[in-house]
Amino acid sequence: MRKLACAVLLLCPVPALADATAEDLGREIFQDICAACHGETAATGIAGDIRGADLSTVTRALRGFEAMPTFDFTDEEQVALVAYLAALEGS
Ligand code: HEC
Repeated sequence: MRKLACAVLLLCPVPALADATAEDLGREIFQDICAACHGETAATGIAGDIRGADLSTVTRALRGFEAMPTFDFTDEEQVALVAYLAALEGS
């Protein structure tokens, strides 16, 4: 019984860990798809500096804002992208 409780605790997401995971997912998507236009650091691309863009800005952009192509990402992926852009801003 005690062993089971430990296993369950290990599987529970710790907030800090969850953030790191979102950031990693965001990095993966960004480097694969967005960096081609927005640059590796999101600071020098076609649309200028988009580091630190908030969720509503990212969501609007992904729907095909102006010259942006349309993308179909899940809420989780969009939150991950925002987390990654926020991390870039701090770097
Ligand atoms: C084919 C090139 C291209 C790709 C790929 C691309 N973008 Fe963009 N993006 C643009 C252009 C061009 C603009 C500027 C739109 C404008 O203001 O006319 C832009 C603007 C933005 C903006 C700013 C919107 C605003 O309100 O100022 C954000 C945020 C953004 N893109 C996020 C992303 C993310 C996240 C991805 C990857 C999933 C991505 N973009 C992929 C071309 C691209």
